[in-house]
Amino acid sequence: MEIRSVGVVGCGLMGSGIAQVAATAGFPTVVREVAQDLLDKGLASIERSLGKFVEKGEMSAEQKAQTLGRLNPTLKLDDLADCDLVIEAIVEDLERKKGLFAELDRIVKAEAVFASNTSSLCITEIMTATRRAPRFLGLHFFNPVPLMKLVEVVRTVVTDPEIVQLGLDFAHRTGKTPILASDRAGFIVNRLLVPYLLDAIRALEEGFGSIGDIDKGMKLGCNHPMGPLTLMDFVGIDTTYYIAEILFNEYREKRFAPPPLLKRMVLAGMLGRKTGKGFYVYSDPKNPKANELLQWQGS
Ligand code: CAA
Ligand code: NAD
Repeated sequence: MEIRSVGVVGCGLMGSGIAQVAATAGFPTVVREVAQDLLDKGLASIERSLGKFVEKGEMSAEQKAQTLGRLNPTLKLDDLADCDLVIEAIVEDLERKKGLFAELDRIVKAEAVFASNTSSLCITEIMTATRRAPRFLGLHFFNPVPLMKLVEVVRTVVTDPEIVQLGLDFAHRTGKTPILASDRAGFIVNRLLVPYLLDAIRALEEGFGSIGDIDKGMKLGCNHPMGPLTLMDFVGIDTTYYIAEILFNEYREKRFAPPPLLKRMVLAGMLGRKTGKGFYVYSDPKNPKANELLQWQGS
């Protein structure tokens, strides 16, 4: 089987990036959201990102226009019916993903391949909502998708080896480097990254240092491009919390448990960059300031 067209469900942080790289690679790409304002927001971020590649001379204005021309934004799930590969990038919630895939299974042609971009959920469990187990896999992209080079290709115990190969080929076609991971919560990267991110919150809660100094420590001391608290604001505080809950439920180990502050930030709507406030306040997005309300108050 050959992939000739792609469908992406969700046009948030990840879905918009996945739709962008698929369209850039030459695939006609249908991208579906649940509301027009969310679709418009996702498309605006694609246009901005492509504009940056044009500014840097990595893409011509004509290529940008052609890429945008390959995108078919929609609110209708039915528009995905003829896609060869459908990649889901909706909120990190098992029941919502299963509900979506059950619907897609009825709508999309039987020979199409389904993939989830989940960060931490069990691919096998999401797969059970469909009748195409051998044609179901994980394709885990990284944020920001247009810049990050990695895709984790996740196979379940029933994924057809030809479909795994198709996932690897698709990752290459979008300019990424794939690695093969088995279906364990968090796969390879989040299994290692998330305990580190959660530990940074515990360090803040326990008064090891300020928000700025914890981030500076890991940036300058370890050459990380972003400190851990900045990275969680970037990923989304809500998404980080959902991932931690899922990993903790799978492994029952303390290092995966969401620290109390993380949950409280979600409840308070401090979701990071997307709501303008998380560990940092983004009133001036180019110059974020540490959120003073979260600094350690102990003695
Ligand atoms: N599209 C196109 N170009 C972009 C862009 C985008 N969305 N964002 C930034 N750029 C370009 C900029 O134009 C800039 O180019 P020049 O240097 O040539 O001008 C360049 O990329 C660097 O941009 P910035 O100076 O704005 O930002 P930066 O130097 O901080 O780099 C970054 C940005 C690549 C995101 C870097 O900070 C980084 O690597 N951060 C860590 C990201 C990371 O760890 N991601 C993984 C998250 S975990 C995950 O994804 C898994 C999960 O399941 C949760
Ligand atoms: P997000 O909140 O930015 O976007 C999710 C989007 O999905 C929202 O715009 C929402 O309206 C839309 N949506 C919900 N139900 C839908 C439906 N039935 N049809 C169409 N659209 C629907 O979230 P995100 O950060 O893009 O995360 C999406 C997925 O990608 C999650 O599974 C997450 O774990 C995973 N992921 C996230 C990151 C990250 O850094 N944020 C990295 C890798 C993977």
